[in-house]
Amino acid sequence: MIKISRKAIYILMLSGCMAAGNRTFAQQDNTNKKVEALLARMTLDEKIGQLNQYNGDWEATGPVTKDVGNKIEEIKQGRVGAVLNIMGTTHTRTFQEAAMQSRLKIPLLFGQDVIHGYHISFPIPLAEASSWDMGAIERAERIAATEASASGINWTFAPMVDIARDPRWGRVMEGAGEDPYLGSLIAAARVKGFQGTGLGSTDAVMACAKHFAAYGAAIGGRDYNSVDMSPRTLWEIYLPPFKAALDAGVSTFMNSFNDLNGTPATGNSYLQRDILKGKWGFKGFVVSDWGSIGEMINHGYAKDNYQAAQEAIKAGSDMDMESRSYINNLAKLVADKKVPVSLIDDAVRRILTKKFELGLFDDPYRFINPEREKTSLNRPENVDDARDMARKSIVLLKNENQLLPLSRSLKTIALIGPLAKAEKELKGFWSLDVDKGQGIVSLMEGMQNQAGQTKFLYAKGCSITDTSRDGFADAIAAAKKADVVVMAMGEAPDMTGEAKSKSNIHLPGIQEELIKEIKATGKPVVVLLMAGRPMIFNWTADHVPAILYTWWLGSQGGNAMADVLYGDYNPSGKLPITFPRSEGQIPIYYNHYNTGRPARNDNDLFYTSAYIDLPNSPQYAFGYGLSYTTFDYKSMEIGKFNPSAKSDKIIPVSFMIQNTGKYAGEEVVQLYLSDMVSQPLRPIKELKDFRKILLQPGQIKRIAFNIKPDELSFYNDKLERIIQPGTFEVMIGSASNDIRLQKTFELTE
Ligand code: GLC
Repeated sequence: MIKISRKAIYILMLSGCMAAGNRTFAQQDNTNKKVEALLARMTLDEKIGQLNQYNGDWEATGPVTKDVGNKIEEIKQGRVGAVLNIMGTTHTRTFQEAAMQSRLKIPLLFGQDVIHGYHISFPIPLAEASSWDMGAIERAERIAATEASASGINWTFAPMVDIARDPRWGRVMEGAGEDPYLGSLIAAARVKGFQGTGLGSTDAVMACAKHFAAYGAAIGGRDYNSVDMSPRTLWEIYLPPFKAALDAGVSTFMNSFNDLNGTPATGNSYLQRDILKGKWGFKGFVVSDWGSIGEMINHGYAKDNYQAAQEAIKAGSDMDMESRSYINNLAKLVADKKVPVSLIDDAVRRILTKKFELGLFDDPYRFINPEREKTSLNRPENVDDARDMARKSIVLLKNENQLLPLSRSLKTIALIGPLAKAEKELKGFWSLDVDKGQGIVSLMEGMQNQAGQTKFLYAKGCSITDTSRDGFADAIAAAKKADVVVMAMGEAPDMTGEAKSKSNIHLPGIQEELIKEIKATGKPVVVLLMAGRPMIFNWTADHVPAILYTWWLGSQGGNAMADVLYGDYNPSGKLPITFPRSEGQIPIYYNHYNTGRPARNDNDLFYTSAYIDLPNSPQYAFGYGLSYTTFDYKSMEIGKFNPSAKSDKIIPVSFMIQNTGKYAGEEVVQLYLSDMVSQPLRPIKELKDFRKILLQPGQIKRIAFNIKPDELSFYNDKLERIIQPGTFEVMIGSASNDIRLQKTFELTE
């Protein structure tokens, strides 16, 4: 048993260094001087104008405030600092020209929900998270930023970094799933992708970590609902991805609609001042989520917009999106001595600093260049990257008797299901319609692009939601004529996203009945499931030999699905979120406590923490995903503790992995840690590291991890970060429920 001194680890932890920003002190000092000089010239009304953001006139992503006044005129009067949902160089130029007519000519910020692609649509974020490929994810956001910034956008309201353990919540599609470690890496990759080498480059847009905070823990998975959790859960599970975004240099934060432990996030100074701007030292600015300042009236936290504005500015909400609380009340609050000008000045400084960093004062039109817009959108090399990201996002859930990959020599394939020909549906929620649905490849088209002589029979079979069986006969007939049946089933793309929570997350309509009928023909059946959330499809999971979870894959979805079906790409995705067997199991996640009566197996239902009508295990676990090949894990070693090592290398762990199948393939090897005895309790396992490894058939590699000091630490009830001596178990697995190797080490005093 390896013994390691806790004291030595504390010393190593203290030697950690702060992440350095990517601006020199001289640059920052120069910007600060410009901000102060401008601030000194501003009237109170002009300062308040900078805190005001209006939605554009073309697209609303929230309940539209009844239109009051003329936005262009207000911009000319210096009453608006930012707008959103105004895209393209034509529209953005119109609005920026209006800002240039204001007294101080302060340029506008143009914000947009560029969540998974701008012109080229990438897979939804939860699909991208299934790739566990940080480089690919960063690349996807880099391309989105290049396209958006060529179209007048200089601020995206992304990445959404909300941890989500409840698939009933529609916005689970928008994040990176249930795990703080994976979610933190993805948050950082997305920020780096959007912001590129740093603000100031014309292809960099400000990123925005949202929704601060704990929005994904809405009670009942019901969007906008209350959140109630212990401070430890907030710090251990929900805050880490936000901190990772901040450490990656994120320019802005967006607060959230929910109340947290009785205080709406927008009016929550614990979140925005104590944690974000205080402990974490955030220098960017916080924008409210659509109207959330005014929504504090609905919450019952403010009696009117006057009080809502007061609560929000005091709590650290710098910019008011769409509620008009600030523009209509802050001047009076100052006059009434309810709000000091210093709070307004702080918010204005933060916003002006970003406008200077973006280079907008040097050239307000630097993001509004029609030539660049023409040459930047839909570049072939970027379309190829979208296809690559899509392929990596697909998760192989089942492949009995190696039914997949399909042979190109098949004579006839029946393509059945309501999504077999789907095109714009593949873009999922939070996709922008800039391409008017152009260039989207359906599954059918993708397969036809590659299939050579194969003949395709198509039958829709049924629709996504209704209960008509009228299409069954044609579908069954098509199946009977085919060598293999490929079924494309799932949700509608607008069944996930904002305000799309569902109490029933089963495969909708009578789709599973159609699957049963097609299975009954005796033909080999492959089912592709398209959705923005984990669905429940237990019969299919138990009876269909091959299942791929393809989420919503974006513009290149059809080509990517065909690449996987034909084996041109060996699927490597791993689930970033647990798939339940029933809504009754929710919330269900892998990093849970053991309880005093853990169910030792799915039949041990007596006197254990289990349901009497369902196994405790999920349908599919966090980290699960198959390959066309197989991998063997062996020879695990935990190396000697090396106190003189740098702070991030203290407990070396290594093992061998071999590709024991006939296809080259990538495996995401996962390292989980368990602090066996601790006070307060720790989860039965926590993901602490992973590698995505490519192995040729027969190839063996030794993989080395280093457990870092901080990975042994956790928050106690006083929210102090501590490490306790005792036994730790190190687990190496192919999934959170598929541990292949494990060893323990002893942490001494
Ligand atoms: C929406 C969403 C938020 C989005 C904002 C602007 O209500 O909650 O994620 O960025 O409004 O569209």
